[in-house]
Amino acid sequence: MGETLLLLKHRNVPGIRKYDVYREHDGYKAVEKAFNMTTDEVLEEVKTSGLRGRGGAGFPTGLKWSFIAKPEGVPRHLVVNADESEPGTFKDRFLMEHIPHLLIEGIIISSYCLGSNVSYIYIRGEYGWIIDILEEAIAEAKANGWLGKNIKNSGFDLEIYVHPGAGAYICGEETALLESIEGKRGNPRIKPPFPAVKGLWQRPTVVNNVESIASVGPIINMGGAEYAKIGVGRSTGTKLISACGNINKPGVYEIDMTQTVEEFIYSDDFCGGIANGKRLKACIPGGSSVPMLPANLLLRTAKGEPRYMNYESLSDGGFQTGSMLGSGGFIVLDEDQDIVYHTYTISRFYRHESCGQCSPCREGTHWLEKILKRMSEGHGKMSDIDLLWRVQGNIEGNTICPLGDAAAWPVASVIRHFRDEFEWRVLNGEAALNMRYGLAHYADPIELNKEAE
Ligand SMILES: Cc1cc2nc3c(=O)[nH]c(=O)nc-3n(C[C@H](O)[C@H](O)[C@H](O)COP(=O)(O)O)c2cc1C
Ligand code: SF4
Repeated sequence: MGETLLLLKHRNVPGIRKYDVYREHDGYKAVEKAFNMTTDEVLEEVKTSGLRGRGGAGFPTGLKWSFIAKPEGVPRHLVVNADESEPGTFKDRFLMEHIPHLLIEGIIISSYCLGSNVSYIYIRGEYGWIIDILEEAIAEAKANGWLGKNIKNSGFDLEIYVHPGAGAYICGEETALLESIEGKRGNPRIKPPFPAVKGLWQRPTVVNNVESIASVGPIINMGGAEYAKIGVGRSTGTKLISACGNINKPGVYEIDMTQTVEEFIYSDDFCGGIANGKRLKACIPGGSSVPMLPANLLLRTAKGEPRYMNYESLSDGGFQTGSMLGSGGFIVLDEDQDIVYHTYTISRFYRHESCGQCSPCREGTHWLEKILKRMSEGHGKMSDIDLLWRVQGNIEGNTICPLGDAAAWPVASVIRHFRDEFEWRVLNGEAALNMRYGLAHYADPIELNKEAE
């Protein structure tokens, strides 16, 4: 089964980035429909759709919207999170670059529902060319009467502003993002209060991922109940996956979350198999902050059942034997990849991006990087493995924001699943730098299928 195209339906239409072409392909129909509904009816459709936040945590979008406080006379805001700095994740970029009006349409409907008359797109500074694309699309929408005062006689006013960040991963965390828009250093806030009560300039605010908001137009068009029929269980609708690493066909795919992981990696409709005829060793299925899984636990759960590309199945087994769908950044590693070195590069990233507010994260990420660096260079000690385990354990759950967990989880997962490779690397010292550890017990699907027979 191939892709299910809702968000990317028109991706191959020449000129779809431009307003006129987008409008010819049913663009802005969802806004027209929403303006004939009450805000409560729009909220109900989003709730019924079962849409879960596509930024990583998977929190139900309709429920989040229902939390927004409505104090008399206080403006409310919608902020779209386009920071997309999680390594391996590049799906929002694809959406904004190719179909910017889908996002703008979603922002208009969502802002209408939430009562936001001034909404923001907070975008990472490195996406400079996309900032231009968005500005152009906003200007086109405005010129055609979809933004401004009393839009299409609906009585609803809206302006959208694009706010570029300066290139800090932590500014993707929703409260750091709000600080950054306010012109301050992007330090996460202590919660509560949550943004829905006190967000941007202490006003009620909803922060949602680009893909979450882009999904709102299709939900209104087809109705929440129809949208909820796509997918499986609590993983409703479609999900964009950015696939990269050692695969034949890296790219952005839209899936309905019913595919097995095996199908997603090996089918020509998706990743097209492991590049250069190599075998699968491991995968980070949801962006660099989620646990890495060895091939056997990636393709099959600990119960031996096929694993699927959705929220529930990827997390089956918890962190002992499962991982997370996260942001959908699917990073595939083949048999030649060095787990110790890759863990070191991930830890280096988190050390660099820690804002430094809390000691477990500021100091812990530094230690993780330092220990992993010496191990990956062939100077590790056997005791370093347990030391890594203790350091990551001291970070997890002890910090202001989840960046600390994001730094700890990958390290915990590799020690859990690849301890033998860490030991081998210590035993062989510098000599291991010219050797390949290989697959050990990390079987490929053919072997797994034979075992199952
Ligand atoms: C360190 C860190 C970085 C994050 N980066 C992003 C990001 O780039 N984009 C995003 O949508 N969410 C990111 N998040 C999650 C946001 O805090 C927030 O949960 C999300 O934007 C909510 O949108 P959603 O409910 O639509 O997923 C990040 C969280 C953390 C802790
Ligand atoms: S966990 Fe790290 S990034 Fe988050 S607030 Fe603490 S120091 Fe800053």
